[in-house]
Amino acid sequence: MKLPDPTDSDSKPHDNLYYLADEAAMLDFGNNFSSQLQAGLVINLIGNLGAGKTTLVRGILHGLGYQGTVKSPTYNLVEIYKISRLYLYHFDFYRFNDYQEWEDAGFREYFNSASICFVEWPEKAGNLLPVADLQFSIKILETGRNIHIQANTDAGKQCLNNWRYQKKT
Ligand SMILES: Nc1ncnc2c1ncn2[C@@H]1O[C@H](COP(=O)(O)OP(=O)(O)OP(=O)(O)O)[C@@H](O)[C@H]1O
Ligand SMILES: [Mg+2]
Repeated sequence: MKLPDPTDSDSKPHDNLYYLADEAAMLDFGNNFSSQLQAGLVINLIGNLGAGKTTLVRGILHGLGYQGTVKSPTYNLVEIYKISRLYLYHFDFYRFNDYQEWEDAGFREYFNSASICFVEWPEKAGNLLPVADLQFSIKILETGRNIHIQANTDAGKQCLNNWRYQKKT
């Protein structure tokens, strides 16, 4: 497969694949994408340990105006943010051992039309999770990351419509 040209990361490849050279680029990408978000979305973040999933959420939250610390939810399972009237839930299910833990933890009610949910390691909650509107898949390269965005629902497709990542210069 031909890798995207790193010098060309602000052009929009039609397959929604982007190259992000470093952490700052990942933060900028999230920051930029945050303008597309609206209440009700569920966003899955796929990628190996250390891929940059939390970094992406950090960029998105900063883009939405949140100025505090964005911690990894690895130990608490969820970090909760409120930005004006919007609730954002950032989950990390890495430590789940079986699907039922998600149901038992009572997280189902967090997935509602007034919130946005970001989910790291959705695989660990299996098919109990609602269908994600968007899925970001991050791949670790020798230097930097590739990120691929897939829309699974009309709401997800709407987020990608008319969006063109403009790299900060
Ligand atoms: N585009 C990028 N290029 C290079 N390094 C990056 C990029 N984005 C993030 N990183 C770095 O990757 C490391 C891991 O990031 P992060 O904690 O966000 O990963 P994660 O996918 O959430 O991992 P985990 O599954 O353990 O929660 C950090 O050191 C971060 O600076
Ligand atoms: Mg993480």
